[in-house]
Amino acid sequence: MERRIVRTADGSMTIQLPQWQEQYHSLHGALQESRHVFIRHGLHNFSRRSVDILEVGFGTGLNALVTLLEAPDLDLSVGYTALEAFPVGEAEWQALGYGALAGKGAEGEALFHALHRAPWGQQCPITPEFTLHKILTDFREFSSQPAFDLVYFDAFGARVQPELWTEDVFARMYQALRPGGFLVTYSARGSVRRAMQAVGFRTERLPGPPGKREMLRAQKC
Ligand SMILES: C[S@@+](CC[C@H](N)C(=O)[O-])C[C@H]1O[C@@H](n2cnc3c(N)ncnc32)[C@H](O)[C@@H]1O
Repeated sequence: MERRIVRTADGSMTIQLPQWQEQYHSLHGALQESRHVFIRHGLHNFSRRSVDILEVGFGTGLNALVTLLEAPDLDLSVGYTALEAFPVGEAEWQALGYGALAGKGAEGEALFHALHRAPWGQQCPITPEFTLHKILTDFREFSSQPAFDLVYFDAFGARVQPELWTEDVFARMYQALRPGGFLVTYSARGSVRRAMQAVGFRTERLPGPPGKREMLRAQKC
């Protein structure tokens, strides 16, 4: 499938899949979307502790980088597990230039490179407070005991991959969360919300990032 690197409205880049008319992030702003959905409505529920995050769709590594950069301000130590079946190649992640978003010059570049160069299937300390564990798997085959506090659910949209927004997949997420844990996603579809509720999540609709009226946050009761 053809893939293009495109600039989004806030100046940050993303990968576009023209055949699907789909992107890895919102065209209204990749960085803004990541900060709004996953940081503001997800990570900011936690402070001064250790938090275990499960990302569904490592993709470009943008959510991981933004989380790594935000964690010190919240005094958080982060265990970050990320699932991905089709890793982004080096030429593409280099072209995205996300290291510069850190605003730390060569240090930001080094952190972003470290996220991508970390071997799959191993716990890798990226900083003293951020450990990454990338798992090469299909989301539909992942299962875990309750070991996570927060799920970043960042699959391609249900319009193009409906098989990833099912009760079966959300039941896996529910099982993987500790009681009281949260799942956040940019989607606000009714069918997605109902699938979450059917497996036990309590859901809330929250204001979406620029260009999107609403998003969803779900909590394991
Ligand atoms: C919306 S993008 C993820 C964006 C990512 N969170 C980021 O910050 O760049 C969705 C990701 O899911 C991956 N993916 C698609 N189908 C999958 C599947 N069945 N199992 C695992 N990963 C899948 C894609 O390769 C892609 O990286």
